[in-house]
Amino acid sequence: MIASRRGSSDTATRRRHEMTGMVTLSQAQSQGATGRHSVTLTVNGAVHALSIDARTSLLDALREHIGLTGAKKGCDHGQCGACTVHVDGRRIVSCLTLAAQAQGHEVTTIEGLGGDDGALHPMQQAFIDHDALQCGYCTPGQIMSAVACVHEGHAGSLDDIREYMSGNLCRCGAYVGIVAAIEDAAVKMQG
Ligand code: FES
Ligand code: FES
Repeated sequence: MIASRRGSSDTATRRRHEMTGMVTLSQAQSQGATGRHSVTLTVNGAVHALSIDARTSLLDALREHIGLTGAKKGCDHGQCGACTVHVDGRRIVSCLTLAAQAQGHEVTTIEGLGGDDGALHPMQQAFIDHDALQCGYCTPGQIMSAVACVHEGHAGSLDDIREYMSGNLCRCGAYVGIVAAIEDAAVKMQG
């Protein structure tokens, strides 16, 4: 299984925040950030001007204010990876990221991953080809994390894929297909 250990999931989450240098929601709340703020987000190339509570997570901004519901709310605590999106090409858990922190950065969600002509990204196609989903709830986060995993150079072996995807849980247990899909798509993305 890719992510059967909570400790591994915690480590992956911490690693993402270290990589992005982003302030987490809990950190901002502890710093007393409150009130409404004007926040401009660039998501999938489109600019959105929002007036939101300063404590609004990026996940809630995407889902509730912009209407992009691809990123899913699983745990809302940084433990499951269902809310994974890219900020400047790097994967982050959007439930623990403030929307305000994403201002001035390029946010990409599963809705913006494919080509402008509607073509699927190779990772999306690989998930279909390998039956890498059952209910599909975790799938957008799995795919966004998997694309970043390949770009990071962490998809060179099955062990690497399992380790660097350990922050993305699948309650349906579709891990065998997920790993196979990433291995397949990695070759096509790098080829
Ligand atoms: S909903 Fe964000 S990590 Fe679970
Ligand atoms: S496919 Fe159902 S949670 Fe992953």
